[in-house]
Amino acid sequence: MFEIEGHLGVRDNHLFIGGVDAVDLVGEYGSPLFVTNEERLRENYRRYQRAFPDTDVYYAAKANGNLTILRILAEEGAGADVFSGGELYMALLAGISSDRILFNGNSKTDQELRYALQTGVRVSVDSLDELKTLASFARETGKVAEIAFRVNPDISPKTHPKIATGLSTSKFGIPYTQVIEAYDTAKRIEGVKPVGIHCHIGSQIIELTPFVETVNRMMDLVEQIDRLGVKLEFLDLGSGLGIPYKKDEHVPTPEDLADAILPVWSERSDAIGVHPRMILEPGRYITGDTTVLLTRVNLVKEAHKRFVGVDAGFNLMIRQAMYGAYHHVLVANKADLPPMGLYTIAGPICESGDILAHDRELPPVEKDDIIAVLDVGAYGFSMSSQYNGRPRAAEILISHGRPYVIREHETVCDLLAKQTLPPHLL
Ligand code: LLP
Repeated sequence: MFEIEGHLGVRDNHLFIGGVDAVDLVGEYGSPLFVTNEERLRENYRRYQRAFPDTDVYYAAKANGNLTILRILAEEGAGADVFSGGELYMALLAGISSDRILFNGNSKTDQELRYALQTGVRVSVDSLDELKTLASFARETGKVAEIAFRVNPDISPKTHPKIATGLSTSKFGIPYTQVIEAYDTAKRIEGVKPVGIHCHIGSQIIELTPFVETVNRMMDLVEQIDRLGVKLEFLDLGSGLGIPYKKDEHVPTPEDLADAILPVWSERSDAIGVHPRMILEPGRYITGDTTVLLTRVNLVKEAHKRFVGVDAGFNLMIRQAMYGAYHHVLVANKADLPPMGLYTIAGPICESGDILAHDRELPPVEKDDIIAVLDVGAYGFSMSSQYNGRPRAAEILISHGRPYVIREHETVCDLLAKQTLPPHLL
């Protein structure tokens, strides 16, 4: 066996995931299939936590909200960043305690705010309007909601525009210049208690300077907020650390991130004499490279290009269609063969944008081969849909060399779930 990427290897021409033959997995469980390696997930979490030993790591559940994934991370001691009532429900169910959950969201419903109060999680408040609503619900129920404000720090993260979240033009957070006033308001309102401050500048960031700039800008605020007499217990910097989707890409590691921001953090907090606890909310780093999507070849077609038609498209993996994102692909049953030509991997969805990979050098591809799309553990299944009437794929967990079904394949019955015919059409 030779290693191709940490937990992935090749033996007898086949791709192995966590020591299990990918081709056998498709034989046993069908295609398409998401396959996640538990050991890799734990390793990623531990490495990140080790790089930030004094930081609370709140896993961003949006990256991959499967209950098993959340459960493993709960066991590892992770908290959670949740962005909806559904994610909050799942995080609690997985065993993450409410005092280690931050409820984020730029447009939470009344029901979600009431649920946050009921479960006692802290809320990252995105606007003064939301603050008013939350405070009134808290007073109604005799509770006090501990809050942070989500700040829009006006920083360019130098990433894809659709996943830059801290630009002044973005929909997220309180504009930087209004933050102090917001804390001044919050400290006077009954029903809420400001205890933290929060931001998140974007995702798949591969430069360190935006993170350093963020620490400085947020520390400027911490200092001013302290002068208002508000004692901040935590500063949540969000996340955004990228991963190398291309194998030769240089991307900072958690250790690089720690080396860049921790000294600035210490220096600034010592200088202002306020020492909030640091929270980080990694999603992609924790789950991204843990998972492979296996998809069967239906046909190969010589047209304007050589297209490989597979049974998974942007219904299961939307990142290429949505952001032009690169995911490495290989032929799982010919993993050792030399490349013979250029292939474009096309999904079965009725849209020209449904391409998983453009112009890749692969060994000769034929019907019934298995294409493996790598690094789909973050924003893969979690962004999937049933578009074109396609049931979603199963998810398999490999743990100590054994496969477990952690989500069954959907069937056409799932397409009908919750639908009803009005009586006049029965
Ligand atoms: N915290 C907050 C408030 C967030 O909005 C996000 C991601 C994270 C943490 C986690 O960031 P990460 O460590 O994963 O970079 N669908 C896109 C990514 C959207 C990210 C949304 N927010 C993609 O596939 O690239």
